[in-house]
Amino acid sequence: MHRIAIYPGTFDPITNGHLDIIKRAVKIFDTVIVAVANNIEKIPLFSIEERVAMIQKSVRDISHVEVDSFNSLIVDYCHQKGAIAMIRGLRAISDFEYEFQMALINRKIGKDVESVFLMPKEKYTYLSSSLIKEIAALGGDISSFVPDVVKNKLKEKYSK
Ligand code: COA
Repeated sequence: MHRIAIYPGTFDPITNGHLDIIKRAVKIFDTVIVAVANNIEKIPLFSIEERVAMIQKSVRDISHVEVDSFNSLIVDYCHQKGAIAMIRGLRAISDFEYEFQMALINRKIGKDVESVFLMPKEKYTYLSSSLIKEIAALGGDISSFVPDVVKNKLKEKYSK
């Protein structure tokens, strides 16, 4: 059986912490689909197309990774792709409550899809896309937090 997992998120933008999770996930699953959500609760800096393009460039050297976007319930998207699991990153205890709630609701509405939680390297546990945007907007150095393609795109956005 070909085991597919979905790694969903807003990815506005992708960070080295997300990449760390993707590298762990491909060791467990045959294919990992990084799926950019059109999250109506967030007002993103980057369009879906920009976020997908940045991820595609960032995962170029990692095998068995695909990049896509979705507009539906995550469980419906998992079924559509034939995925058996969705990957979520756990950075700190503070992530737990929200993730626990989401996993249980997803289990209720979308049977047959397991939530799998992976922990990134400690040095990435404090990262978030919002913090990176804030540092970049104020001219700080984000080189160690994001791939070069993201660093350049953020520079471009904030220089306008
Ligand atoms: N490294 C760095 N940052 C990380 C990270 C990691 N490993 N893991 C999470 N983050 C950050 C993200 O950058 C993001 O930061 P931000 O809030 O500053 O933008 C934050 O943690 C949470 O992000 P993420 O993991 O992307 O979750 P999300 O809340 O943006 O995405 C969805 C949630 C999209 C998966 C969820 O809303 C969803 O499934 N939507 C589809 C609709 C649906 O089915 N809803 C019902 C769900 S029960």
